[in-house]
Amino acid sequence: MGFFTPPRVSFGPGALESLASLPGDRTLLLVEPGAAGSPGVLATREQRAKQGKTVELLEVDALDLGGAARAAARARECGADLLVGLGGEELLDVAKVASALGGSPGLDPAEITLLVDLPGGPHPPLVLIPCTVGPGNEMSWTAMLKRSREGPVRELTHRNLAADWVLLEPLLVRSLPPAAVALGAADALSHALESLGSEWSDPFSEALAKQAVETLLERAPRVLRPDPPDDLREHLLIASGLAGLAQAHAQMGMGHALAHALAPRFGVSHGKVAAALLPSVLEFTFLAAREKYRQLGRWLGEGAVRSGPEIAGRVRELWEALGVPRNLSLAIPVRRDDLVGALPSVIEAAERFTGVVASGRVPSTTELSRLVLCAWDGRPVDF
Ligand SMILES: [Fe+2]
Repeated sequence: MGFFTPPRVSFGPGALESLASLPGDRTLLLVEPGAAGSPGVLATREQRAKQGKTVELLEVDALDLGGAARAAARARECGADLLVGLGGEELLDVAKVASALGGSPGLDPAEITLLVDLPGGPHPPLVLIPCTVGPGNEMSWTAMLKRSREGPVRELTHRNLAADWVLLEPLLVRSLPPAAVALGAADALSHALESLGSEWSDPFSEALAKQAVETLLERAPRVLRPDPPDDLREHLLIASGLAGLAQAHAQMGMGHALAHALAPRFGVSHGKVAAALLPSVLEFTFLAAREKYRQLGRWLGEGAVRSGPEIAGRVRELWEALGVPRNLSLAIPVRRDDLVGALPSVIEAAERFTGVVASGRVPSTTELSRLVLCAWDGRPVDF
């Protein structure tokens, strides 16, 4: 038995206007610190004001579980009947957890798993509005957050974390630097390709992943060229959502399990680390998902989908075109010895994420360590 539960999605220019017709009289709008005057905040206020609704703004003081608990408490105090999260990846995850806690006050958010029976008391509907291209986590019912600034990232998964509405408004990503959009597109492509290699992929996630791959391969390189098409970022934002939806249903891949352990450990960008790992991950998992990857020949090139080394090489070429690190050594500015020293704790952390066990080819602890070193060196994965 399978199931597919996407949020309701409004997309394209004017998507924010959907806010005017959503229910509720009192909105709590969660944003990142310093975002109070951003175009998204102004537009949200304007749309809600059309129906005479009030909007309270909360700049979330910490993008972690503590910040989520405080946001949930504020939503209860102010009697919010609509919760809106507007911002980047971490802010959206904070909003998801705040929403789930709204119906379960007193619950330790770190305890949220699929196996926990959340009481599910009344809590405001959740609207998520991404302001970045790539993460696609507005579509998922997983939140990747730390308990506090220090410490490991935790993977919280529960249906109650899913948004009721997602608004994909291209206006909000129009002024992002091209390099950030290119890196985000690479992250989204990683989500799509890793989801296809998951043991838990299904016909819905596979269709979404293939569409995301097609759009991202065709359009992402154009973002770095002069005079990109006006609708380019809109398509990339939608493709990010498609990839996010695929990942939500197939679970994150092994590369993302490693990236969520490595990036915080060294204080570097998630997207760069996940992208730099992808070629080696594809090489390792290729045979387990060979038929699914072969269906991507139209977009990756038929020669690229014949074998693990060839698909890894093709992705490295693409990363060159997008200005994205092709090896892990280019994504993490430390010495190789420092990486080797950190590996035992990194691998232990990575093995706590579902991405490892959901992989079409589940690695041993030793294989996971060797894979990281292959990704660092850009060497073939010959095991
Ligand atoms: Fe990612």
